[in-house]
Amino acid sequence: MLSKKLQDALNEQIKNELYSGYLYLAMSAYFEANNLPGFAHWMRVQAAEEQDHALKFFDFIVDRGGRVVLQAIDQPPVEFSSPLAVFETTLQHEQKVTGLINALYELAVAENDYPAQVMLQWFINEQVEEEKNATQIVETLKMIGEKGQALIMLDRELGQRGKE
Ligand code: FEO
Repeated sequence: MLSKKLQDALNEQIKNELYSGYLYLAMSAYFEANNLPGFAHWMRVQAAEEQDHALKFFDFIVDRGGRVVLQAIDQPPVEFSSPLAVFETTLQHEQKVTGLINALYELAVAENDYPAQVMLQWFINEQVEEEKNATQIVETLKMIGEKGQALIMLDRELGQRGKE
């Protein structure tokens, strides 16, 4: 049985994952509005992944006989100053999420909840991937600058996410 403390923290994380999805969908909308459909596609795929993350927590609570309690999700930003700013925000956001996942793991250890520790190990690995992906795009954008042919080529490349 899940402890109340851990159940509350996992419910909070469902909200955090859904907020991540909301944030990335807002970024997708920004790219759509700025004629970068490949970037918009990448962010849309990212938003869908966050929805999956939320459902992993949802299912875990259900499987353990707990009660899912959904919470209100904040409004994400509407405007961003540039594609680079979007991916810098993404990286900072993922670093924050990594901290949240680590804190959940520490709580699962403190509560002697072994299944939660195993479940959270998937997220610990996933965060390595999330930070790596955002870092790579930040570095590429810094290298190519924000205009011209190279940006269009990166847009085409990001538009292939999930289609390879
Ligand atoms: Fe759910 Fe982007 O980590």
